[in-house]
Amino acid sequence: MTADPSSPQAAPIRIAPSILSADFARLGEEVRAIEAAGADWVHIDVMDGHYVPNLTIGPMVVKALRPHSKLPFDVHLMISPVDHFLDAFAAAGADIITVHPEAGPHIHRSVQHIKSLGKQAGVSLNPGTPAKMLDYLIDDIDLVLIMSVNPGFGGQSFISSQLRKIEAVRKMIDKSGRDIRLEVDGGIDAATAPLAIAAGADVLVAGTATFKGGAGAYADNIRRLRGA
Ligand code: DX5
Ligand code: ZN
Repeated sequence: MTADPSSPQAAPIRIAPSILSADFARLGEEVRAIEAAGADWVHIDVMDGHYVPNLTIGPMVVKALRPHSKLPFDVHLMISPVDHFLDAFAAAGADIITVHPEAGPHIHRSVQHIKSLGKQAGVSLNPGTPAKMLDYLIDDIDLVLIMSVNPGFGGQSFISSQLRKIEAVRKMIDKSGRDIRLEVDGGIDAATAPLAIAAGADVLVAGTATFKGGAGAYADNIRRLRGA
């Protein structure tokens, strides 16, 4: 199943493996392996043990990974407060920086800050956060990230109610006429990927489903997510 090719907004499906499920002792090698296996973006989950109950990667690790890949670095910030880290992630080599509205007092200001750094700005909606949160942001953002699990951990089950939100946000994006990616994150596998795509998503984040089976399996895993 693919997005309607007759839609003026139809974009190719991009696969963004989340390195949260990679071998952290060999991260550079893992990033090279997913690029060779056909990944489109590298999704980097940044967690602070405060906004979400897990601790992961900081700007120094992003900077260390930068020479290992030419792919866009899609940096998903699950940290609060977030604003004072935006410059550091931009300098470290992020291409897309995504923030959560609940993680700071002024989401519009955070988006403007990311744009002022010359980076693409994303806004992420948690499972309980309504699509209308985007009403006054849609004119400025480059990406919407729909969380199909509660943020914090890989390997959780896809929350089906988020399909309705993907559909609603797809309509908002098409109505805006702007070039905005619609990304879905959490519990994406060969079974849920077609549902997310049919609802209007054009970027799929996948941690568990990409990295299972070791490097020899990555290309097949990514192909399966594309529905090929
Ligand atoms: C969750 C992260 C996701 C997560 C996805 O907070 O934002 O990117 O790693 O993992 P899977 O694909 O295993 O659900
Ligand atoms: Zn993520």
